Amino acid sequence: MKRIPEPELMVDPEQARAYAGADFSEPHQAFVEHFRRRLAAHAPRKVVDLGCGPADISIRFAHAFPDCRVTGIDGSDAMLSLGREAVRAAGMTSRIELLQLHLPAGVPRSGGFDTLISNSLLHHLADPRVLWQTLKDAGAAGAAVLVMDLLRPQSVGRATELVDEYCGGESELLRRDFFHSLLAAYRPDEVRAQMAAADLGECLRLEVVSDRHFIAWGDLS
Ligand SMILES: C[S@@+](CC[C@H](N)C(=O)[O-])C[C@H]1O[C@@H](n2cnc3c(N)ncnc32)[C@H](O)[C@@H]1O
Repeated sequence: MKRIPEPELMVDPEQARAYAGADFSEPHQAFVEHFRRRLAAHAPRKVVDLGCGPADISIRFAHAFPDCRVTGIDGSDAMLSLGREAVRAAGMTSRIELLQLHLPAGVPRSGGFDTLISNSLLHHLADPRVLWQTLKDAGAAGAAVLVMDLLRPQSVGRATELVDEYCGGESELLRRDFFHSLLAAYRPDEVRAQMAAADLGECLRLEVVSDRHFIAWGDLS
């Protein structure tokens, strides 16, 4: 099935509320556990979360690694407002800052982050090179990287099945967004080619970790 891109930023307040209100606890906690297992030797201190949205992963990451501070970056004001509320409610304002930035705009303190994380940003980008180049620019030498994203299914029919299976009880808006995200996602061979083109093929490895997710992880050498 051919990839069908979707808009980059999630700027509609209703769309952002539906996303922030959905239950992503399983994949988001799995994200943190993937980091713990694959990058166990790494102690996160200065973390950047690219495309942080409503900051659920930023908050889970900060809970899991109490010595780190997280900078969440997103281009959508609607998402960041919800993210700031969530950070306040979690009592994390001293450890998590959220910045509005439309990538590829330069990330502040680039080159200074020892940990680079991103979930579900790649499939939104009009140009996937933006993610890989931003990782290279923002990370210090040896920085740990964990990227997770959706996988494009083989057919529209399979995408519909995944929506029913994982978004069965969610609003129509969220179901529609998930469907479009699946169609906009990349296949593993496409992601490997992107990483190789960015000279990251040697230091990052790709694993398919569920029926709808892959991770790319490693460290910047
Ligand atoms: C599907 S959400 C994922 C949010 C969060 N990472 C999570 O896992 O819950 C994708 C986010 O990426 C943001 N985004 C997309 N393209 C972007 C860009 N070029 N620069 C900054 N943020 C971007 C969107 O606004 C949206 O909040």
